[in-house]
Amino acid sequence: MSERTRHIAIVGCGQLAQMMAQEGQPLGITFSFLAEEGENTSCVEGLGELIKLEEHESGEALYQALGRPEVITAEREQVDVALLRKLQQFCPVYPDPHIFEKAQHRLREKLALTESGLPVAPFVPALGADELRRALGTLGYPVFIKSCENGYDGKNQWRVKNQAQLEGAIEEAQSQACVVEAAVDFSCEVSLVGVRSVSGEVKTYPLTENLHRQGTLLVSKAPFHDSQLMRQAQGYLDKLMRDWDYVGALTLECFVTTEGLIVNEIAPRVHNSGHWTLVGAESSQFANHLRAILDMPLGDTQCSSPTAMINMLGVNKSPSQKNEGVWLYGKSLKEGRKMGHVILVDNCVHQLSRRSEAVIDELYR
Ligand SMILES: Nc1ncnc2c1ncn2[C@@H]1O[C@H](COP(=O)(O)OP(=O)(O)O)[C@@H](O)[C@H]1O
Ligand SMILES: [Mg+2]
Repeated sequence: MSERTRHIAIVGCGQLAQMMAQEGQPLGITFSFLAEEGENTSCVEGLGELIKLEEHESGEALYQALGRPEVITAEREQVDVALLRKLQQFCPVYPDPHIFEKAQHRLREKLALTESGLPVAPFVPALGADELRRALGTLGYPVFIKSCENGYDGKNQWRVKNQAQLEGAIEEAQSQACVVEAAVDFSCEVSLVGVRSVSGEVKTYPLTENLHRQGTLLVSKAPFHDSQLMRQAQGYLDKLMRDWDYVGALTLECFVTTEGLIVNEIAPRVHNSGHWTLVGAESSQFANHLRAILDMPLGDTQCSSPTAMINMLGVNKSPSQKNEGVWLYGKSLKEGRKMGHVILVDNCVHQLSRRSEAVIDELYR
């Protein structure tokens, strides 16, 4: 008897869903995608069935419409947790909805990280002008004011260095619940992507160094050579995975400080800082996420040659310079939008840096 086709439903239709499907198809997996009302689906067209979320649809009807998937996953943290719980009655949802509940709300996320004993920047929850001003009294300048909900790529957050900026941020934040965070004095930012399978097998990619432009990731480079920080990050990721009984890919974003790592945030999914694994590792973060949620043995996560990933932000022309791969997501062009990325591999780290700079110059000049 032939084995049943492995079918996965993905909540969300952006580039992360696209790359999961592209990496899953060679593994013999088929896909369906759940789109919210008004969600742009151009990234996943042709990669599987597209289902538009209808209001008041029953969990069962949706599960059937999605093609009775073996497992459901998501490409973003802003998902309807109640809906995922309904779907969970019909098949596993990985990561579990309780994780999205934490990750989609900065205060809940910070509290969960603290509860697991991970170090985060000093923070104060605040709602409204009075509480925001009081938070500044506690933390002092500079701070980051971040809305609890709908923050991504540096959006819905304000860097505040003085009172004038505070008043401006108060105006913009209005009545949104926020977390006020002391600014961390860091030498660089790193992230760790790890995967844990249903049976508890864990693998992590090497630590990756990340450079941002206006709050959005611009460049990731791996591996970041610091065995002490790698052990620290791995310990934190393992702790979260165990505490949360995690299944799938989990990303930890950290600041490197003189005192070691401070955890900035987590992402319960494949992550932009792991796109380099498409070329730089034998098994990409996308393939390993799928393996993890289907309880297949995990693939190799080592990085054999220094690898860099450069985001194409508001640019959708491939660079003319030598590269090891260009991904274009097929989205309509908009300023600052993640349109694609370029991957470079070089045995010499200095040469890799020079080549990365040249590609950045070409893309953004
Ligand atoms: N407490 C902080 N101290 C210093 N820099 C910060 C702090 N919080 C955020 N940043 C900077 O802003 C970027 C985006 O913030 P982050 O919390 O990761 O939000 P997002 O969800 O938009 O990625 C970070 O990668 C970092 O460069
Ligand atoms: Mg971030």
